Amino acid sequence: SRLPIVAIDGPAGAGKSTVTRAFARQMGLVYLDTGAMYRALTWWVLRQGADPADAAAVEPLLLDLDLQLSAGGAGEQLVSINGFDVTEAIRSPEVTAQVSLVAAHGCVRQALTAQQQAMGLKGGLVAEGRDIGTAVFPDAELKVFLTATAAERARRRAQDLERRGFEVPPLAELEAQIAARDHQDSSREVAPLCQAEDAVELVTDGMAIKAVIQALVDLFRERV
Ligand code: C5P
Repeated sequence: SRLPIVAIDGPAGAGKSTVTRAFARQMGLVYLDTGAMYRALTWWVLRQGADPADAAAVEPLLLDLDLQLSAGGAGEQLVSINGFDVTEAIRSPEVTAQVSLVAAHGCVRQALTAQQQAMGLKGGLVAEGRDIGTAVFPDAELKVFLTATAAERARRRAQDLERRGFEVPPLAELEAQIAARDHQDSSREVAPLCQAEDAVELVTDGMAIKAVIQALVDLFRERV
């Protein structure tokens, strides 16, 4: 037996990280941002000069991979790979543009899914990603599919980039990038982005962050 697990999946830019982090803190659960793991590996692939689309070039980098997540001060998650702190670097537009290519490889999914499952053995965590409810923790006590329209997600991504000090492309361009990443994530063969049958769908257009967090708390109290 283990403590409960909450799975939060959904497309890019739905605000998953912000609300999941706050929800985790409020409920005393460990926060696991699995996208950060795919991003960190992508950062490493690019740094090694390997082709992100080439599984045979990426696979050797999975041997001796030292990918670590740890809790930072404000409840944020610090990420390091092979000794490099990449907490900030993994949010760059370059990593964002390539991550879906790396995440599509079966060998990559196998390695990172195994690490995520090991981290969840005792439960007591909320994991956020694309395939948590379907592949990583199919027995999660609560599964939520968090989404919003592409236009709304593009607006949120723009705010996020601005806050992090990156250049902000026009909204139409951001929306196209988000749609492309969703398409790549949904159409891959291994563990594609899709709503688990037993997931609760939460469409967050027009909802304040606080209201989304409260909706998660209510669902947890009702169902777990
Ligand atoms: O959530 P975030 O935008 O940081 O995820 C970055 C990318 O990592 C996604 O677009 C997807 O390609 C990949 N990912 C995944 N499975 C997860 C989490 C993220 O394939 N569970």
